[in-house]
Amino acid sequence: MSQRSCLSVILAAGEGTRMKSALPKVLHQIAGLPMVAHVVKAAEAAGAGSQVLVIGHGAEEMRKAAAKFAPKAETFVQEKRLGTAHAVLAAREAISKGYDDILVMFGDTPLIDADALTVARLKLAEGAAVVIIGFRTPNPTGYGRLIEKSGKLVAIREEKDCSEEERKITFCNGGLMAVAGAQALMLLEAVGNKNAKGEYYLTDIVEIASGRGLDVVATEASFENALGINNRAELAQAEGIWQQRRRQEVMLSGVTLIAPETVYFSHDTEIGADTIVEPNVWFGPGVKIATGAKIHAFSHIEGATIASNCDIGPYARLRPGADLRQKAKVGNFCEVKQAVIEEGAKVNHLTYIGDARVGAGANIGAGTITCNYDGYSKFFTDIGAGAFVGSNSSLVAPVTIGMGAYIASGSVITESVPEDALAFGRARQKTIPGKGKELRERFASAAAAKEK
Ligand code: UD1
Ligand code: CA
Repeated sequence: MSQRSCLSVILAAGEGTRMKSALPKVLHQIAGLPMVAHVVKAAEAAGAGSQVLVIGHGAEEMRKAAAKFAPKAETFVQEKRLGTAHAVLAAREAISKGYDDILVMFGDTPLIDADALTVARLKLAEGAAVVIIGFRTPNPTGYGRLIEKSGKLVAIREEKDCSEEERKITFCNGGLMAVAGAQALMLLEAVGNKNAKGEYYLTDIVEIASGRGLDVVATEASFENALGINNRAELAQAEGIWQQRRRQEVMLSGVTLIAPETVYFSHDTEIGADTIVEPNVWFGPGVKIATGAKIHAFSHIEGATIASNCDIGPYARLRPGADLRQKAKVGNFCEVKQAVIEEGAKVNHLTYIGDARVGAGANIGAGTITCNYDGYSKFFTDIGAGAFVGSNSSLVAPVTIGMGAYIASGSVITESVPEDALAFGRARQKTIPGKGKELRERFASAAAAKEK
């Protein structure tokens, strides 16, 4: 099959009014990735070497987004929304280059998996001209019905054009199909718009192909594969299904999730075996975790790299650029951004480390803050290996703490501290004997005088 060339045409011109959003529908995200990007990924995984996006509503925004998630995809604008067949023809120029297989997909059907597409392509390789990826549902309202005659698919009828009998059919069009490249343009051009909606229906190519004696096949995929997103409730439903699939994969690959239903992954989360994830953990995009890490409850992690055997949380926040080396510890209510925490270093309590390096084995005391921002620019804090930063210190960047240096607690450090030095950045303590008692008596008599 790999010898067969394949183009995927992804339709994404619709407005998606039911999302009630300023953002084009297909740019709404699932697992941190626009839903149309999930479709692109599935097409790629099924061997579509070339990709086309048909856009219309929000074309500029779509183009910008596509440059990121599908840089190789060509975009075509469908100026007027005259139906799904008309939309595919907007990409006529690409289709006419002559591909063996054309996959037509909808940008709002994000849970399609590559296997269903691969099965459809196999049917083309066996000689089918049109392959429909169907699914069964007890509640088919709104979907095109697959009309079969003596076991052969002969037509797809849209809900609005169905007879009462046809409406009872539960085998539906998922909206995904594979078409033989050699016949695609001929079939699409034969589609008319004499139907209830006055649109050029892509689904009509089934009847056209079968009427011309071409082989038309229906395959069956699971309901999820065909789940079309029209509103935010369906978006959440798709997110839920995606997360469930991913949790399952992650657990089977050797990761312990104590309460899997409370852990949320991103489309690109990498997580190594023997990692243990406690309940209520969120992974945003760009997280890579090696083996044997412990992620305690209620941690929020994005854009972070975590080496083996690190210990994180509970209630830790790792932001983009957090780079934890082996056995580093980031404890409760700590935030780390754009900073390397080297091997075995500890940042355990109520601390902010941003734009910094914490050297191997260093210990950062509770409440330490790297003051990295003056309201205009960001500055770097460099903390050497084995340094000890006392609790409640402010390290005002740019500043360097040498290897093995000690910082007294409560210090405001504005000047660099050399290796092995001890730095105090606070007023010395003054103790006056008896003064406490004297004050107490003075305050008590003042209060008594007021009451009179
Ligand atoms: C379509 C199918 C229906 C199927 C259902 C599955 C047709 C005629 N009907 O119906 O059989 O059961 O999907 O979800 O194909 N689009 C354009 N330009 C247009 C029209 C649509 O780009 O002119 C895009 C939309 O943005 C969307 C996709 O095509 O991504 C599907 O269009 P939509 O109007 O939602 O089709 P349905 O009525 O759901
Ligand atoms: Ca739809």
